[in-house]
Amino acid sequence: MKCILGIETSCDETAASVVDLAGTVRSNIVATQIPVHARYGGVVPELASRNHVMSILPVVREALVVGQVGWSDVVAIAVTQGPGLIGALLVGIQTAKSLAYAFKLPIVAVDHVEAHVTAALLSSPNQTELPVAEPPYVAMVASGGHTALYQVDAVGSYTVLGHTLDDAAGEAFDKVAKMMGLPYPGGLAIDRASREGNPAAIAFPRGMMGGGNLDFSFSGLKTAVRNHLANRGQFPLMNAEIADIAASAQEAIVDVLVEKTIRAATAVGVEQVVLSGGVAANQRLRDRLWRRCTEQHLRVILTPLEYCTDNAAMVANLGRFYYLRGEITSPDSLDAYANLRIGSPRSVRAREMP
Ligand code: KG4
Ligand code: ZN
Repeated sequence: MKCILGIETSCDETAASVVDLAGTVRSNIVATQIPVHARYGGVVPELASRNHVMSILPVVREALVVGQVGWSDVVAIAVTQGPGLIGALLVGIQTAKSLAYAFKLPIVAVDHVEAHVTAALLSSPNQTELPVAEPPYVAMVASGGHTALYQVDAVGSYTVLGHTLDDAAGEAFDKVAKMMGLPYPGGLAIDRASREGNPAAIAFPRGMMGGGNLDFSFSGLKTAVRNHLANRGQFPLMNAEIADIAASAQEAIVDVLVEKTIRAATAVGVEQVVLSGGVAANQRLRDRLWRRCTEQHLRVILTPLEYCTDNAAMVANLGRFYYLRGEITSPDSLDAYANLRIGSPRSVRAREMP
């Protein structure tokens, strides 16, 4: 069976995946470093790189075993070249280069955010009932490093409709959680804590909601939560209060993400909306976007949870599209780019074999 091996090491997940040439995920292995970074309250770049070095080969091996394929089935290696932590990216890139050299395989370098944007194009053998997106669509990508709206006309053809001017939505979740003493990663902790809370308990600000604006700003929310905590004094937070603050802060983020996504779809006139990125795992966001899209008669594709947070299936699948078009990357010039942007010249692949 011909397949693409995907490798993802841009942040704190060491991931490898096998996706066949029809786009079905055969394996999706993620070795998370959350326990390593949790006691520091955030990702420590050097520890991330070291842990990738230790995990990458076992993770690749497991992806092949679970996918029931051997090296002779792999036709190309797709690897994340950015954006992300340079040291972390380099581990995946060097692994891809070495394996490509050893097994005489082409490499397809992939943009991590573009992989999130196209993650909803994946189909999984045990999730056949889930709808798969088809361009054109508007994609809301909300993660720890990025929050932006894209118009997706085809794989490789994107228009940025709006993006965050300061923090990413995931960063806002993480910082608010940290202020309340909730564990890292904060998004998941807030998602859980908020289930017992009242989303209308505190009126936190919704940044840049005026006019037809499609950009985002979450720094005001962060300041508002800090002020709220400072004003209530030093006594310890009770669980009910944590739940209310978590639910109210989450509601402020969700309101903005949902309304701007609907606004973007209406502005460009597409009928399909895709939600992806780590924050897309948020249950309240999924429920609210689903309801609003249904009201607006928009088709909504909520990226399956396992492809929302960082994974290599989305990398392998995006690599598959480019491989099938003959767009591969010269291994000699393949490098890591911390600030890679969708559509930038560096992410454009060469059209010849190495
Ligand atoms: O896409 P991702 O795994 O990594 C980046 O590319 O940044 O996103 C990680 C972000 C973190 O900020 C994390 O707190 C957030 O996604 N996140 C969530 C949830 N699960 C992860 N945010 C809200 N609710 C969740 N359930
Ligand atoms: Zn990501």
